Amino acid sequence: MSDPLLQVEDVHTYYGDSYVLQGLSMKLDPGRIVAILGRNGMGKTTLIRTVSGLTPPRRGDVRFQGRSLAGRPAYSIAQAGIALVPQGRRVYRSLTVRENLQLPTSSLARPRKGRWNLEAILNEFPQLAERIGHFGGELSGGEQQMLAVGRALMANPSLVLMDEPSEGLSPRLVLQVGEMMKRLREHGLAVLLVEQNLALAMSVADYLYVLASGRFVFEGTPEQLSREPAVLDEHLGVSRRRI
Ligand SMILES: Nc1ncnc2c1ncn2[C@@H]1O[C@H](COP(=O)(O)OP(=O)(O)O)[C@@H](O)[C@H]1O
Ligand SMILES: [Mg+2]
Repeated sequence: MSDPLLQVEDVHTYYGDSYVLQGLSMKLDPGRIVAILGRNGMGKTTLIRTVSGLTPPRRGDVRFQGRSLAGRPAYSIAQAGIALVPQGRRVYRSLTVRENLQLPTSSLARPRKGRWNLEAILNEFPQLAERIGHFGGELSGGEQQMLAVGRALMANPSLVLMDEPSEGLSPRLVLQVGEMMKRLREHGLAVLLVEQNLALAMSVADYLYVLASGRFVFEGTPEQLSREPAVLDEHLGVSRRRI
């Protein structure tokens, strides 16, 4: 068995006096998709910020490829191979698709080697190739999500953090986001997905955690979660019939 790619060990994260993540532990193996499900305000983005070094934990540790990330600033964590697709996508509306894609390489001190470059990304997402000269602000929500993923790939990460990629997308485009994640996994990438969208998480994740008020209240496979109506009802607000 290989070592986990990412290990979150009893992390406690605060914003000032506000105690948000109250002792979370989880792991993610290379090439897997792990989903963190939870309603608004439960701490999903805070977990992403904790892993990416934007809001480091006050207690506990995050380990990546066996090494502690403690004390490392966000740019150094990105350099190590963790890329973020932020909530709300954050594409630059007045830059073209090409310019959006070419930005992140310059934010890494040393480009990471790997299969992903402009050509490979346009090959993977032909829809972006068609829109190469368009401004970010002219793209549909689904295309913007694709662009945000492409931008993350330019850094040749081994782990992609995705913060609510389904937000604001139609059900058809949510399916497309799911397909995109499966393709990343086929390319050997690991994905940490945080979501409120149960159907999306269940359809792509190898393993899931349910987050409620800064603590995990469930972990298991999609199949195991589907057999926990009480968890689904209490923490995700869905009755079993709707899965
Ligand atoms: N910058 C911040 N300062 C203070 N509190 C914050 C900040 N960001 C988020 N919070 C609080 O932390 C909790 C978790 O937020 P968040 O991680 O954004 O949840 P989610 O992504 O699951 O919706 C919420 O109570 C939220 O109000
Ligand atoms: Mg959030």
